[in-house]
Amino acid sequence: MDSISIRGGVALQGVVRIQGSKNAALPVLAATLLTEGISHIANCPRIVDVYNMISLLESLGCEARFVADGLSINPCSIRCGAMPSDAVTGMRSSLCLLGALLGSCGEVVMEHPGGCVIGQRPINLHLDALKSMGVDFEEKDGRLVGRTDRLRGADINLAIASVGATENIILAAVAAQGRTMIMNAAREPEIEALCDYLRRCGADIEGDGTSRIIIHGGCRLSGADYSIPADRIVAGTYLFACIATGGNVFLKDAPCGQMRAVLLLAERMGSHIDLSDSGIYVQSRLRPVIPSSLTTAPYPGFPTDLQSAALAAMLRGDGSCIIEENIFENRFRVVEPFRQMGADIEFLSSTSVKVRGVPELEAADVSACELRGGAALIIGGLQAHGESRISGCSYIYRGYENICRDLRELGARITIV
Ligand code: EPZ
Repeated sequence: MDSISIRGGVALQGVVRIQGSKNAALPVLAATLLTEGISHIANCPRIVDVYNMISLLESLGCEARFVADGLSINPCSIRCGAMPSDAVTGMRSSLCLLGALLGSCGEVVMEHPGGCVIGQRPINLHLDALKSMGVDFEEKDGRLVGRTDRLRGADINLAIASVGATENIILAAVAAQGRTMIMNAAREPEIEALCDYLRRCGADIEGDGTSRIIIHGGCRLSGADYSIPADRIVAGTYLFACIATGGNVFLKDAPCGQMRAVLLLAERMGSHIDLSDSGIYVQSRLRPVIPSSLTTAPYPGFPTDLQSAALAAMLRGDGSCIIEENIFENRFRVVEPFRQMGADIEFLSSTSVKVRGVPELEAADVSACELRGGAALIIGGLQAHGESRISGCSYIYRGYENICRDLRELGARITIV
């Protein structure tokens, strides 16, 4: 179950539907803790991180269940207090419960969410911002304990446009007394999705999607119906899989408006892109052109989460590219496995590599060690001659509902083993 077998060499063809966004769904699910009523969250992706979040919400007293087309959540009887440590430690995305629990209960006891293979993942910006809103934090038995008698609005200038910190501030601010202004806020679409949901519940928020967000707190929040937008990272993953194999694919429901930097790169790689209301049609060259450089940046720049997939699509391209990773300090764990497949990749520094296209890749047995790198290894296997085996696929299932089914529907010879 934890391994995937791929026999490469097939150009992907056909239509694939893009799932709901993991990184939009998680903060929206956390935000239900701030409401007094049932919410129906449609298009919620059925992925491991969402199931983990649901079990955390249930451990706090929420009732949550998947119904026909989505997730119904009733935060009727929240039990404020510690979350099960095993659930929190293993999942970064529970961090957005910090602001939601402080907003709903005035307290939070949780394990430090910890770093992961892509980086240390510090939370100083989250804690500093929440302290300025009246929260006291202390370490107790290795756990993080936060308490506040009264959340108050504050003006917060983020040193880094952190997605998670922006989300936690918003979640606390809607419950705080007074106005909160976030400067240098993250502009990712997931921030807008969270604010769209909260506004439907009755929150007073403006400026999301820009670097200055203003929240007038203290409104009573009802439940709401909300549909999670499509996942721009999953759409980008399949787009680069299409480019890597010289295929033609329609990415149904792909959020075109959120993928400008990604689509620009696809065109620089020689693909023809057609946009429509219902998705993105990608027609790729047999062999992609490699652009001279690629740099990751906060939205609307090129997303760090697609850096490994873009690298994978360049492995057999024409030319060479210098890739700079500016968001996380350790996001080139795929280089070694790609070298095992015959790729030509040279480290220029710990956060930049030079990739030169090679004519062919050979199958290899490799191991995923994180979510987006694991998906990129699959793209490598789709191109390689022979049968590749990729282990550690439980990382991939954290963010992709059914990557094997999706790629098989596009003609890939891929099976779970
Ligand atoms: C979110 O992580 C996403 N995760 C990540 O997606 C995504 O890569 C990242 O944003 C950047 O877009 C979820 O939404 C669940 P950050 P987050 O805070 O919020 C530093 C995936 O594969 N920083 O914007 O943790 C941090 O170290 C995941 O779906 C601090 O220094 O990212 C990083 O260098 C991977 N102090 C930079 O800011 C802090 O207090 C950006 O991190 C917080 C962050």
